[in-house]
Formats: sequence, C-alpha cells, structure tokens
Amino acid sequence: MTVRLGVNVDHVATLRQARGTPYPEPVYAALLAQDGGADQITVHLREDRRHIVDRDLPLLRSTLEVPLNLEMAATPEMQRIALGLRPSRVTLVPERREERTTEGGLEIAGQSERLAAFIAPIREAGIVVSLFIAPDRYQLDASHAVGAHAVELHTGEYAEATGEAQAREFTRVHEAAHHAQGLGLEVAAGHGMHYRNTAALLTIGPIVELNLGHAIIARALFVGLREAVREMLVVMGRGAA
Ligand code: PXP
Repeated sequence: MTVRLGVNVDHVATLRQARGTPYPEPVYAALLAQDGGADQITVHLREDRRHIVDRDLPLLRSTLEVPLNLEMAATPEMQRIALGLRPSRVTLVPERREERTTEGGLEIAGQSERLAAFIAPIREAGIVVSLFIAPDRYQLDASHAVGAHAVELHTGEYAEATGEAQAREFTRVHEAAHHAQGLGLEVAAGHGMHYRNTAALLTIGPIVELNLGHAIIARALFVGLREAVREMLVVMGRGAA
C-alpha cells in the first residue's frame, strides 16, 4: 500500500522569524513541497508563534491543493482557530514553551474527559482528528476512547536509538501500530525520521502516513525543496531514483 508523505514546513517559518523578514515564505515552501509530491502539508501553530504565525494559515488553506494538517495544543484559543480555518486534519500535540521541538507524546489517559470535550466540536466540523502519542497501548486505548480518528506514533525514540535499543524501539512502534489498527484508528508516524531510517517504518503495514520536517527542509538547502521531497518519496519506494 502507498504510504502518504506529510511535509512539515515550520522550519522555513523559523528562518523567517529569526530576522523578522517577509522571507523565506512558508506558503511558497508548502507549494514547492506539494509540487515535489507531498501528499499533505503540516504546520504547527505554537502558542508563542515562534515560527508559523496566524496570517500563514488562511494563505495555506486557500492555496494548497493537498490536505493541510494543523498541529496544535489542546487549548481554547487553538480550538477556535481550527474551527475557523477548517483544515483537513488537526493533530493535537503537547506543547512546552522551552522545548526546541515537540518532545514527547500527548498524555491522553490522564485528561480523557477534557480531551473528549475538546475533540467533539472539531470532529463535528468535519475535521479529521489525530493525536500525537507515544507508541504505547495505554495511550492508544485512551485515544480511541476520546474519539480520535487517527493517531500519529511518536518515532523520536526509535530515531535516536542505535543497535539493540533501536530494535526494541522498532518493536514498540510495530506493536503499537497493530494495536491501533485493531482499534480502528488510522496510523501515522513521525518525528526524527530522515533519509536513512525511514525505509524500515514502511515495513509496518498499518502505518499509512509519515510526517517529516527537519530532514527534508535541511536537505532542501542543498538540492531544493522539490527535489528533497522527491528524494524522500524515492526512499519510500515511490518514484525512480
Ligand atoms: N510530527 C509531529 C507531531 C511533530 O510535532 C513533528 C515536529 O514538528 C514532526 C512530525 C516532524 O518531526 P521532524 O521535524 O523531526 O521530522
């Protein structure tokens, strides 16, 4: 089965915000990634607006032909923005101001009532709701219970591990993906994936979507964004080298 590739363009916005210039334009980056074959564009609107800012969202929503996946924290402000914007998908992520990137999965089980109430109106608006969680049965069962359509399994620990630890982390992702499928959840994966560790994840049948940011934007510095996306699609067995 074809695994979809979601491309996160936050890092382009990070470069823009570093200087307060109008460039580089993340909307342009998103369109180039789409041209390169991306199946979805992901952006994370952070509470502190450190990369993507509010004005980017309607521009992305009105120019992209592929689905827009809005990553956000489960806060009232973000819920209001999502309901106004109506992206194809919302991925709920944990957020701490001091972190460099999203560091862990969202804790679902400990706040299931609040999350169920948070998710309901988003679902009713026709938006697919995904939860970014650790590859852990407990979180998966809770994700199903709060009404998520999908989960994105956090692959950061797999990506950082080496040797036997990596094999163990791979098994965790593998088992979690199958458990999620058994619950009827769509399964995505992401975080820390790059051109050399992504292929292994494609052997996990239930995973239908991968979301990558840093590695593709970094590669784009040297080969251009369209080509960087195309190269990742080749890694994923889609397209000729
Ligand atoms: N998926 C989610 C939910 C994320 O928060 C991130 C990081 O922004 C990614 C995927 C992409 O991670 P990376 O930039 O390491 O490829």
